[in-house]
Amino acid sequence: MALPWSFSLNLCFLFLLFFHGSLPCSSAAAASPLTALVLPVAKDAATKQYVVSLQHKTPLRSDKFVVDLGSGFLWVDCTKDYQSSTFRPVPCGAATCAAAGALGCTGACYSPPRPGCNNNTCSGSPGNTITHLSTSGDLSDDTLVLRSTDGRSSGPPATVTHFVFMCGATLLLPGLAAGSRGMLGLGRTAVAAPHQLASAFGFKRKFALCLSPSAASPGVIFFGDGPYVMQPGVDVSQSMAYTKLLFNPVSTAGAYFAGERSVEYFVKVTSIAVSGKTVPVNTTLLDIHKSKGGTKISTVVPYTRLESSIYSAVEVAFVREAAARNIKRVAAVKPFGACFSTANVANTRTGWAVPEIELFFEGASAAWKIAGANSMVAAGNGVMCLGFVDGGVESRESIVIGGYQLENNLLQFDLESSKMGFSSNLLSKGTSCGNFKL
Ligand SMILES: *[C@@H]1O[C@H](CO)[C@@H](O)[C@H](O)[C@H]1NC(C)=O
Ligand SMILES: *[C@@H]1O[C@H](CO)[C@@H](O)[C@H](O)[C@H]1NC(C)=O
Repeated sequence: MALPWSFSLNLCFLFLLFFHGSLPCSSAAAASPLTALVLPVAKDAATKQYVVSLQHKTPLRSDKFVVDLGSGFLWVDCTKDYQSSTFRPVPCGAATCAAAGALGCTGACYSPPRPGCNNNTCSGSPGNTITHLSTSGDLSDDTLVLRSTDGRSSGPPATVTHFVFMCGATLLLPGLAAGSRGMLGLGRTAVAAPHQLASAFGFKRKFALCLSPSAASPGVIFFGDGPYVMQPGVDVSQSMAYTKLLFNPVSTAGAYFAGERSVEYFVKVTSIAVSGKTVPVNTTLLDIHKSKGGTKISTVVPYTRLESSIYSAVEVAFVREAAARNIKRVAAVKPFGACFSTANVANTRTGWAVPEIELFFEGASAAWKIAGANSMVAAGNGVMCLGFVDGGVESRESIVIGGYQLENNLLQFDLESSKMGFSSNLLSKGTSCGNFKL
């Protein structure tokens, strides 16, 4: 039974009163501080976006938000149906304003006060990072309730009374999964959810993302450190390889202020292999050079995008290795460039038995192995396609690792040590991102 935190504390207090502080409570309470939160995240089949339900406002209500790993804050549509007795605008000059990039100030709003219209409120630029539409909006705060976890199953709800977010508008919603009321940013700012939740509860500034391809068994986002135990009892935090997180000195986001440092997550791929053979690529592109290039992780890009020359090299290598296994190439199905017949291709625990792609990361003790489950997309009629797309020449990032390749992989973002841990596909470990006991 899930008891809310406040309720369990009250029970404790009663015990203390009746038993004069003898045993059960103080020690029990001290032994189980809140160390992590868990948030289910489901794939929206129509848009291929990853969607969470957040409980917020007073009285509490549940609304859907599209997850954007690379955005700096939560934004919520404040222009339609925002009713909450705990809504508060953030006044100009507050420390959170700068953290949210909300450097403007709405001096006066000449309408009756409502969410999105208050005097002396700092203002920023909420944006839909899928359609690249942005507007201006007020920084605000309200109640947010998430589920606690010990890393093994979900626990009692935990309340943040003043969760800071940006007021967006209904005009930003088109292009988001049906029913969404905004976007949840997990980027590298002090007002993005990982940092705010860690500060509110005093746990580690670490979070993990485990996306599921299935809408029926959602994946999870953990805020806080591991364990991250998936049924039947696999603690994924024990078998990860790590690489350094990098900063791109210039923002690559759709909505940003000129000169702003990127709040997205960049890492360095040092090489790519197909069937164990290194793919020849221009290594300059793998570095962030003149604010371009490098490798970014994104939840709003459905399929991994490779700069043209890298894409071609990977496609050539994959087609050659597939031919060596007698996998027949067929006509391409957009947006993909290389498609194959599934005839005579075995289906294994980790998807179609196709040449393995490996990504090597700076300093990592193991490669990120991409098997059929993450490399091949079913295109119907016995056709499967290499699920990578050509990102064009002069693309801002050379590699953007997108949602399809992230599915059933657990990624941990450690903001204290600025590193990223990755598990490779959990199917090979006998579990999946949909296997957390919620
Ligand atoms: C803001 O202040 C102005 C001038 O004092 C006042 O007329 C207006 O009603 C206020 N607006 C809000 C939303 O409180
Ligand atoms: C590698 O990429 C860089 C950056 O785009 C470019 O300046 C350089 O000419 C490329 N080198 C080769 C050998 O194509």
